[in-house]
Amino acid sequence: MMQIRVYPSRNAVARAAAAQFVSAAERAITTQGRFTVALSGGSTPHDMFRLLVDEDATTIDWARTQVFWGDERCVPLKDSENNAHGARQALLDHVQIPVNNIHRIQTDLAPEAAADNYEQTLRSFFGSRGLDQPRFDLLMLGMGSEGHTASLFPGSSALYEQERWVVPTYVEKLESWRVTLTPVALNAATKVLFLVAGEEKAPVLKHVLNEYKQPYLYPAQIIDPPQGDVLWIVDEAAASQL
Ligand code: 6PG
Repeated sequence: MMQIRVYPSRNAVARAAAAQFVSAAERAITTQGRFTVALSGGSTPHDMFRLLVDEDATTIDWARTQVFWGDERCVPLKDSENNAHGARQALLDHVQIPVNNIHRIQTDLAPEAAADNYEQTLRSFFGSRGLDQPRFDLLMLGMGSEGHTASLFPGSSALYEQERWVVPTYVEKLESWRVTLTPVALNAATKVLFLVAGEEKAPVLKHVLNEYKQPYLYPAQIIDPPQGDVLWIVDEAAASQL
């Protein structure tokens, strides 16, 4: 099932997303004894991350929370462009999460090796729990102004990957390497939470949500988990052309 919820501001988007994160965590920990979440990169989730730090506002059992990422830029951890760096600064360094519960994409390795390493991490983690797919309880995603999600960019061969869960991908427009979950892995999630804000995203969001599917051109359209729900949390600026 797919739902779209429009909020008046970026702050309202962050608050709604934090509430979704908390309820997904509580639901998973109550029913399975643990919560697996893949964080998105970029800047939009940072306000939500900071809200999750407020102990009074959230009752997350971080000891039972396993944190992964949907993609990563192939830059060192200390680089401000690194997604794990951003999540640590805004959230993970401020909550009592065991270091072994944080599963970074190892960008100190070359892209191909980093992708293989992360795929092994995922396969052993989910395999040890009897799962043959990375069934995240919550998968957070963003959307770029040209319709990319995770690091699946328009025209990328990764969009057609049917076997691997993780691949390296060279992004021509950014002249940089990334590591990304493939649609096979992304669409295994139980719940997908898209966070999209800003007027610059409005034209593409209209196409992604309202027009016929062309995932090769608009990769965010490839997200359609057969056994999962998708919730789009967007601000009015991004939704202005829907
Ligand atoms: C990344 C992200 C990417 C991001 C979008 C939106 O590594 O860049 O995973 O998919 O979510 O580019 O980014 P903003 O939230 O910064 O607009």
